[in-house]
Amino acid sequence: MVIQLPKDEKLQPKTQPHNFFIWGKTMSGKSYFASFFPHPLVLNTDGNSEQGTAPSIQIRNIRDEDGKLKQSAIKQLDDVITALQATDNTFQTLVIDVIDDICVMIEQAICLDNDVQALSDIPYGKGYSIFNTVLQQFVMDLKALPMNIIYISREISIGGDDGTAPEPMPSLKPKYYNIVNGNCDLVIHTQKFGKDTYTRTITDRRTKYEAKNITDARVKQLLESCDGMFEK
Ligand SMILES: Nc1ncnc2c1ncn2[C@@H]1O[C@H](COP(=O)(O)OP(=O)(O)O)[C@@H](O)[C@H]1O
Ligand SMILES: [Mg+2]
Repeated sequence: MVIQLPKDEKLQPKTQPHNFFIWGKTMSGKSYFASFFPHPLVLNTDGNSEQGTAPSIQIRNIRDEDGKLKQSAIKQLDDVITALQATDNTFQTLVIDVIDDICVMIEQAICLDNDVQALSDIPYGKGYSIFNTVLQQFVMDLKALPMNIIYISREISIGGDDGTAPEPMPSLKPKYYNIVNGNCDLVIHTQKFGKDTYTRTITDRRTKYEAKNITDARVKQLLESCDGMFEK
C-alpha cells in the first residue's frame, strides 16, 4: 500500500488539554478539584478513597506469606487499562491519586519479582530500565485512552537553607516527573490559604489554550477557575 501524505498546508489547530498534572500540599484541594471532572474513575493509593465521592479502585501490591507477590500493582494497572480500552464504559476522566505512590509500587513490584531490595541491586542498570519501560508504557497507554487523565502529586519544598524562600515543587522524582509530564498538557498547583481559601494556579502548559475551544462545559468551567489559564 502506498502511504497517503497529508496536504502541505498550515493548520489552525483547535487544541484542548486532556492530560493534567495537579500538585500541591496535603489538604490543598487536589482530589477535591479532580473529582469535579466529568464522570471520574479514581485509581487510589492513599487508602482514603472512602472520603471521595468518585468511584475508585485501590491500587497496591499484595504479598503472600512467603513475601512473594500475590497481586502486582503493575498487573493491576494493566488490567484497568485493558478494561477501559475494551468495554464500553461511561467514564470520561481517570484520576491517578497519587502518581508518586504508583511509581513506588511499580519499583516494589519489580524488586519483588527479581528478589532484590532495590532497583540498583538488579545488575547492569536493568532494574531502572525495566522501571522506565513500565512507567513510559503506562503513561502512553493512558494518553491513548479517549478520556481526561489527571495525575496527582504531593508537594515538597526545595532550598531555603541560605535564607532565600524555599521553592515548592512536585514531590515526584525529577526523572519520573519528566516521563509523566512529557505527556501532560497542563500543570496545576493547588494551594490553601488560611482556613478556607483554596486557589488553583497554572504553573506550566503545552500551549496557549482558548476557552472557546474547550468543548466540555464542565471542563471549561473548572479551567476558568484556575489562575493564569485563559487570557482575560
Ligand atoms: N475549592 C474548595 N472549596 C471548598 N472546599 C475545598 C476545596 N478544595 C478542598 N476543599 C476541602 O478540603 C478538603 C481536603 O481537600 P482534598 O482535595 O482532599 O486535599 P488533597 O490535596 O490532600 O487531595 C476536602 O475534603 C474539601 O472539604
Ligand atoms: Mg487527596
